[in-house]
Amino acid sequence: MRAELVERMNTMNGEEPPKRSEIKVVIYGVGEIGGRVAKLLLKKKGIRVVGAIDMSPRKVGKDLAELLGLEEPTGVTVSKDAAKVISETKPDIVVHATTSFLKDAYSQILTAVEHGANVVSTTEELSYPYIVDPKLAEKLDSAAKEHGVTVLGTGINPGFLMDTLAITLTAVCQEVYGIEVKRVMNAATRRVPFQKKIGAGLTVEEFTEKIRTGAITGHVGLEQSIAMIAAALGWKLDKIDVEPVKPVVATKRVESQAVKVEAGRVAGLRQQAHGIMDGEKVITLDFQAYIGAEEEYDSVTIKGVPEVHEKISPCVHGDLGTVAVVVNMIPKVIDASPGLKTMKDLPVPSATPEDMRTYLGR
Ligand SMILES: NC(=O)c1ccc[n+]([C@@H]2O[C@H](COP(=O)([O-])OP(=O)(O)OC[C@H]3O[C@@H](n4cnc5c(N)ncnc54)[C@H](OP(=O)(O)O)[C@@H]3O)[C@@H](O)[C@H]2O)c1
Repeated sequence: MRAELVERMNTMNGEEPPKRSEIKVVIYGVGEIGGRVAKLLLKKKGIRVVGAIDMSPRKVGKDLAELLGLEEPTGVTVSKDAAKVISETKPDIVVHATTSFLKDAYSQILTAVEHGANVVSTTEELSYPYIVDPKLAEKLDSAAKEHGVTVLGTGINPGFLMDTLAITLTAVCQEVYGIEVKRVMNAATRRVPFQKKIGAGLTVEEFTEKIRTGAITGHVGLEQSIAMIAAALGWKLDKIDVEPVKPVVATKRVESQAVKVEAGRVAGLRQQAHGIMDGEKVITLDFQAYIGAEEEYDSVTIKGVPEVHEKISPCVHGDLGTVAVVVNMIPKVIDASPGLKTMKDLPVPSATPEDMRTYLGR
């Protein structure tokens, strides 16, 4: 009988499953998210950070501890040679956090896959890659199957709040007619680069110009979240409409520790997107991030039988939530069948215990 089967049976009989050897992880992109993931993993048992990849000259050659502000060296030196790090350390999984876009992530993820490593990535477009570039998605799926590994794109949004959570909530519905998901964030509670990224403090003209040049892009992932919800419900959408990014203009003076926004200036942005079926808006996502938002929340409304109104208040912190989702999905990605997966294809997500090995194989 296969060892895994014996282990599953022991678990079902209430016995402690035998411990597996540790999970080995390589961090690909030691930025804000990759760094925070590494820091959390270093505190957990049964999992070991064995390598780190980044192309920034400020990081290459340094011990991870120096970048993470830790006193004790980790023994892991940041390298820019991804293939070398992955082939030498042979990780079970690569945590990839370098870019939002599939075309840029593709070759990086392929390097991991071709060296036999599973991948969990925060690349927004990878959360439901079939709508951006189905051919690239198929190539990644084939490569993952050929090498017997799993690839997942996830995070807090896309990856959880505006898609997986909404999909999961439809489980109690006999019928679903429409879904509305809202995320409203007070950007003052977020990191300064995020406040800059949403245009806080600019005039409306400056904001409009930055949208025109692409310096402000808005939220990446609304299309992916809508497509994932539709796929989970078996809805064939006519199209997905992503509205232009709009400035949220302050009606009174608001400020964060880093940015002061006078009335009439931009406090942040709002973006909506709709999934259209038979000419009707059946899915609407509404993303708002601005300094001074009086209430921060995540909400899901399902029009159906029965109706569902769910609200998380205050809204989930983006960075903390992203790091958690990425780390918590590690055992599920390692255990999944090979191929390119999305969150809707994997078991119900959940927090992982301190010793991550015990969750493998369940
Ligand atoms: N799905 C979600 O919910 C979610 C949530 C948070 C973040 N994200 C996405 O995840 C990505 C990472 O986020 P972040 O906040 O950590 O960004 P970040 O702070 O900019 O970190 C990215 C890191 O990756 C490095 N890098 C870029 N290209 C690389 C390459 N080809 N090889 C090796 N390293 C490379 C960067 O180096 P340089 O500094 O030299 O560029 C930087 O150190 C972003 O695209 C972000 O939008 C998604």
